[in-house]
Amino acid sequence: MAEEKTLENVPRHVAIIMDGNGRWAKARGLPRLAGHRAGTENLRPILEASAEFGIEILTIWAFSTENWSRPEVEVRGLLRILQRMIQRDLGELHKQGVQLRYLGRLDRLPEGLQKQVLDAIELTKDNDRIVLNVAFDYGGREEIVQAVQHIIRDGIPAEDVDEALLSSYMYTAGQPDPDLIIRTSGELRTSGFMLWQSAYSEYYITPTFWPDFDKEELYRALEAFGQRDRRFGGIKDDYGSSRQARKGKDKA
Ligand code: FPP
Repeated sequence: MAEEKTLENVPRHVAIIMDGNGRWAKARGLPRLAGHRAGTENLRPILEASAEFGIEILTIWAFSTENWSRPEVEVRGLLRILQRMIQRDLGELHKQGVQLRYLGRLDRLPEGLQKQVLDAIELTKDNDRIVLNVAFDYGGREEIVQAVQHIIRDGIPAEDVDEALLSSYMYTAGQPDPDLIIRTSGELRTSGFMLWQSAYSEYYITPTFWPDFDKEELYRALEAFGQRDRRFGGIKDDYGSSRQARKGKDKA
């Protein structure tokens, strides 16, 4: 089994754009919602595998600010999936030490669902096996807009606004930025996902549709991440030292 090998540099925070549910369903002659249901079933094993691999935070993008424009039946179906996930799976998630967080506009969800989400966050807030960020009614630009609005409402003077302050007004306040962002179904765009937080994230794009993305493929994504050379805009020590060495030679 691949997972018997030791992974190097396991990312602390992995974020997933769970794309391709609709195409997965279409390929099987099923309605789009069947794809979303299959995608939902896939969450549990991927969450479990993430915890096993030592990931501290898993972020999943379940509904974008643009998804409200989808047919009503699909929007209602996705809201129902969120509701069922809380009603049906919360007890088990809590037992397994999962801390739930919500990233996105909560105020546009039906009132009853807003309360369920807040209760779930409160119930699980001290769990520390893994954090599951559910990005729902989430948009990266919208997140930045709401952060700026809050900063202005809080009366923060312009000269006090810096990157750390802005980070503390994002939905992910207090969390490290995602190290690795996975997008399924092969699309080569960010769609604004974690626009602020992704400045130095590594990307892993796979043609696999989300319902088929399994533990083996998560492992391969982590393996690929482990081989990336992350410089955060700087230069590597060995490169730096070889430049020094060359300088010395030039002088000699
Ligand atoms: C993108 O696939 C996927 C979504 C818009 C929804 C993702 C939702 C789930 C997997 C369900 C989990 C939900 C919760 C609340 C945890 P797409 O429909 O755009 O696929 P397509 O590009 O093939 O049409």
